[in-house]
Amino acid sequence: MSLSKSVSFARAAISNAAIRNIHGLGVDLVYVPRITALLYRKPVYLAKFSQRILHEAEYVRATSMIDCRERHDLFIARCWAIKEALFKSLDNGRQSCFQMRDWNTIDPTSSRPTVSGGSINKDEAFFVTVTHDGDYLLAAVIRGQSEEMSQ
Ligand SMILES: CC(C)(COP(=O)(O)OP(=O)(O)OC[C@H]1O[C@@H](n2cnc3c(N)ncnc32)[C@H](O)[C@@H]1OP(=O)(O)O)[C@@H](O)C(=O)NCCC(=O)NCCS
Repeated sequence: MSLSKSVSFARAAISNAAIRNIHGLGVDLVYVPRITALLYRKPVYLAKFSQRILHEAEYVRATSMIDCRERHDLFIARCWAIKEALFKSLDNGRQSCFQMRDWNTIDPTSSRPTVSGGSINKDEAFFVTVTHDGDYLLAAVIRGQSEEMSQ
């Protein structure tokens, strides 16, 4: 990630009024060819891995991309990285019952990554960002208190 990207991410996180108290931060860096190798090691792995980590809505999106393997694999890597970062942002109690497939990282109204589903509390807000360059993809998640609840 370039320095300018990381600086703009930090600025966005600080200036965005939708989040107040920060309770958790998670980051994950994925080497995309490692995910690709995992997906195609055996014919059944793609379906098994996808069903284990993808939310229903993500599974539908991934299936629609299957003809362009590069895009498809990058999408799976993106979902993986966001959920690993999300996991790291959660407290121990919620980590112990964390299931990747319970969480959806797609916002149907926007291309911005997000998190929904899972065990989101009503007083929580999540900020999600992703960047990739070549074979590497990075996701970061901030978990905080939602604006409505902090007023
Ligand atoms: C704990 C976990 C997040 C570590 O990820 P990883 O890819 O092995 O390693 P990373 O390099 O990304 O992260 C390692 C760092 O995460 C941090 N970390 C470790 N456990 C953590 C936890 N429970 N919460 C937050 N951060 C944690 C540590 O700083 C660690 O650094 P260290 O190894 O120098 O101590 C991961 O192994 C895991 O358990 N994920 C669970 C989510 C899940 O369901 N995964 C898919 C299963 S199909």
